[in-house]
Amino acid sequence: MVKIQNLSYSYQDYQLNEIEVLKNINFEIQEGEKIILLGINGSGKSTLLKILNGLIFPKEGTYSYKNEPLTKKTLKKNAKNFRQEVVFAMQDPSSMLFNATVYDEIAFGLKQFKFDNIEERVHQWAKTFKIEHLLKSSPLSLSGGQKQKVLLASLLCIEPKFLMMDEPTAHLDPPTTGWLVEFLEELNITSIISTHNLSLGQELGHRALVLGDNHQLLYDGDISTLMEDMDMLINAQLVHKHKHYHDGVEHKHYHIHNWK
Ligand SMILES: Nc1ncnc2c1ncn2[C@@H]1O[C@H](COP(=O)(O)OP(=O)(O)OP(=O)(O)O)[C@@H](O)[C@H]1O
Ligand SMILES: [Mg+2]
Repeated sequence: MVKIQNLSYSYQDYQLNEIEVLKNINFEIQEGEKIILLGINGSGKSTLLKILNGLIFPKEGTYSYKNEPLTKKTLKKNAKNFRQEVVFAMQDPSSMLFNATVYDEIAFGLKQFKFDNIEERVHQWAKTFKIEHLLKSSPLSLSGGQKQKVLLASLLCIEPKFLMMDEPTAHLDPPTTGWLVEFLEELNITSIISTHNLSLGQELGHRALVLGDNHQLLYDGDISTLMEDMDMLINAQLVHKHKHYHDGVEHKHYHIHNWK
């Protein structure tokens, strides 16, 4: 479904120097796979997701979606189809909510892609996400978790084939996180989800892609194998070290972050 070949991406700094943030990345995603994207702050996760969503384009190498290279030119020809199939819940949900009400937010994509029974569909998705009571509210007046739910409802209602999510649980409380994990498990859709929460990653996907601070792909494989590979976890800085007291004796050892 997705093929990334020798992909590199760079941004320009204020002196117009090219700063490489993705270096020679290669991987494929088959239909139905659920992938977790890991890596420390600034390793390039969000940039990679933006490329997969056709918001920015590789500086070197190629991104093919369904065996067709995705470039500005090919996307322009096929934008409507691609935008319905490939959706991206960005790291900050506020940046994606722009309608006057939650109802309009969910209805927007449905209208855009000419779905029938729009009112019924909006109510159905609002019910799924338990946000029916918010339909008349402005999305901007909602809490972080409520915004995340509205965003997901508005993206999933158009029945996409490939879902990208950038740290979707960042704003969610433990019960809502648990609910989202179960919801995504049952959702029959190809997905790539970035997270800093390794323990959650194991529940959200079966395969991990790990970006290093050198902006290269350090690991592509089974997430349970990754969890047992302490050298790799240390190399990718996915574990942290801090002081502990055991029986009054101070020492340090590595930990996997497990926030929830
Ligand atoms: N629009 C931009 N212009 C210039 N540099 C950028 C831009 N967006 C990101 N960068 C830089 O690219 C690098 C990768 O950023 P990116 O947001 O992809 O990382 P990330 O892995 O998603 O990090 P985080 O875990 O903090 O979300 C960072 O050094 C960042 O400063
Ligand atoms: Mg990011």
